Amino acid sequence: MSYKIRNKEDYAASYKKSIENNSDFWEDIAQNFTWFKPWNTVMECDMKEASFKWFDGAQTNITYNCIDRHLEQKGNQTAIIFEPNLPTDKALQISYNQLHENVCKMSNVLIQMGIKKGDRVAIYLPMIPELAYCVLACARIGAIHSVIFAGFSSGALSARINDASCKMVITSDGSYRGNKTIDLKGIVDEALKDCPCVQNVLVVERTNTEIKMIKNRDHYLTPLIEAASSVHEAQAFDSEDPLFILYTSGSTGKPKGMLHTTGGYMIYTAYTFNNVFAYEEKDVYWCTADIGWITGHSYIVYGPLLNGATTLMFEGVPSYPNAGRFWEIVDKFQVNQFYTAPTAIRALAKESIDYVNKYELSSLKIIGTVGEPINEEAWQWYHKNIGKEKCPIVDTWWQTETGGILISPLPHISPQIPTFATNPLPGIQPVLMDQSGNESSENNVVGKLCIKRAWPSIARTIWGDHQRYKETYFTAFPGYYFTGDGAKRDSSGMYRITGRVDDVIIVSGHNLGTAPIEDAINEHEYVAESAIVGFPHDVKGNALYGYVTLKQDIENKELLKKEINQLISEKIGPIAKLDRIQFTPGLPKTRSGKIMRRILRKIAEGDFASFGDISTLLNPEVVEEIKNGKI
Ligand code: WTA
Repeated sequence: MSYKIRNKEDYAASYKKSIENNSDFWEDIAQNFTWFKPWNTVMECDMKEASFKWFDGAQTNITYNCIDRHLEQKGNQTAIIFEPNLPTDKALQISYNQLHENVCKMSNVLIQMGIKKGDRVAIYLPMIPELAYCVLACARIGAIHSVIFAGFSSGALSARINDASCKMVITSDGSYRGNKTIDLKGIVDEALKDCPCVQNVLVVERTNTEIKMIKNRDHYLTPLIEAASSVHEAQAFDSEDPLFILYTSGSTGKPKGMLHTTGGYMIYTAYTFNNVFAYEEKDVYWCTADIGWITGHSYIVYGPLLNGATTLMFEGVPSYPNAGRFWEIVDKFQVNQFYTAPTAIRALAKESIDYVNKYELSSLKIIGTVGEPINEEAWQWYHKNIGKEKCPIVDTWWQTETGGILISPLPHISPQIPTFATNPLPGIQPVLMDQSGNESSENNVVGKLCIKRAWPSIARTIWGDHQRYKETYFTAFPGYYFTGDGAKRDSSGMYRITGRVDDVIIVSGHNLGTAPIEDAINEHEYVAESAIVGFPHDVKGNALYGYVTLKQDIENKELLKKEINQLISEKIGPIAKLDRIQFTPGLPKTRSGKIMRRILRKIAEGDFASFGDISTLLNPEVVEEIKNGKI
């Protein structure tokens, strides 16, 4: 690959070129891939209309670039290492040749089941190799994959399936997480009661548990794969043909199905993977995310495979059978790059250091974090105990919407400043907006983080709702992409992301919108209304605090709290459960009826001193009552 940034001078030159000659810069990067037809234009981007086209007119197949083109040189090299939930179960090393065979077979199964270009396929699977095969098979035949994290409840699953009118669901009988077995197929059955669009369900056998199979709808995958041909030629698709939909929480309303397309996403994830992780041939790379999130899409599947790397998939959890599990895996496979979330680091830092010191970790070269701001203490623990003070930490800032990493240190090139994502990658122009909505030109400022110019992997739209896409990201600051995050730029121009500035709360690295959780709570027959805010939590980063107003006083409040969390689990998933619930006589509201979350946030944090101006409240007395109720 000729897009490697090797030193400070390379970075400076690439960055300069990307600003002065943006189109040539990306065109040079795109030359590293196999295209079946060249492009007419490199980019046609309109930030006002939120319309983006990259490499228009070109044709390619992303899986040809992920798999086929490596076969000649790397056919026998491991593409995917699969480490199962149980350490005593056998790991798999899947070569590029085997990956090719599996993906071709899976593609033929999908075709045989009537899946065509543009059809949506929902994938609800644990972290097993079939998940990667299904994602790649969809891409190979031009079907749009919609991977839904297998921790979501049946309600969340059916909402996502229906939003994209998925024709097929691929799931497994069950899944393993630590010492638990989860009845995935049962959750799918429940969800599909409300999904008339789904014609077929493919079932991977993982736990071999007894499940209900519905005739003509449900099919075990194994016999279909056994009967399928392993010959499948990758078809040519347009650069702007949809690749996948992935849902992310919005601050209001239903989840947003972010749509990513083919060519731009391909070159951006490959380029950033290669440089942010300073990937070298034969390295073993491990990202602990789930493929149900964007991090897994871009940096377990596409980015690494596009570079012909070896990528590790882990089925289990960091705490099972004990808190040494991650470090055991690092030593077992001699992992060179390790990429995880601050919440996992904080949880493991709480455990005895013996769990770490039992292992050498000497193979590690680069360690990374993603998903939420990392606090100084966690950064230092990671640096000292895992990186042994020699591995650069890449604190990578990006979003489902951005498709790939936008701001991150480059190993051995950027300075290491704890809690700072530091530099924009080439092609990325971050700006901070001041209180009056103008770009701050100074350093040493805080503001709302926007990006000035489009990059190849920017989401193209929200599935079925382009207006919402425009309004959410492109209207607050016309001409810019608004991230929803706040940031600081220090005196040397380095960026530190401070967190969300909207009603999205990041709990254990998962983005949660407050509105859907409130909707779930409000469905309880005794609940009049509710408001959710985040409060600091030493492992999860943030935890959820719910203020709930009842229609009438209820005696058994503890039971009610349980029922509320049960409802949330059913409607959204256990990740959205509340840590604290306070019953309140009312919620503080402005005269226009808007809940003043700022005050509720302060009370949840235990900060009763600085409520600011509450004179605009319709019901200021309620603030006092909530405060007293908390104490
Ligand atoms: C937050 C995850 C601070 C941020 C790839 C962003 C971060 C949201 C970082 C996107 C980081 C992600 N430092 N905050 N290094 N990385 N975030 O869509 O608030 O799941 O807007 O994508 O996570 O979360 P998402």
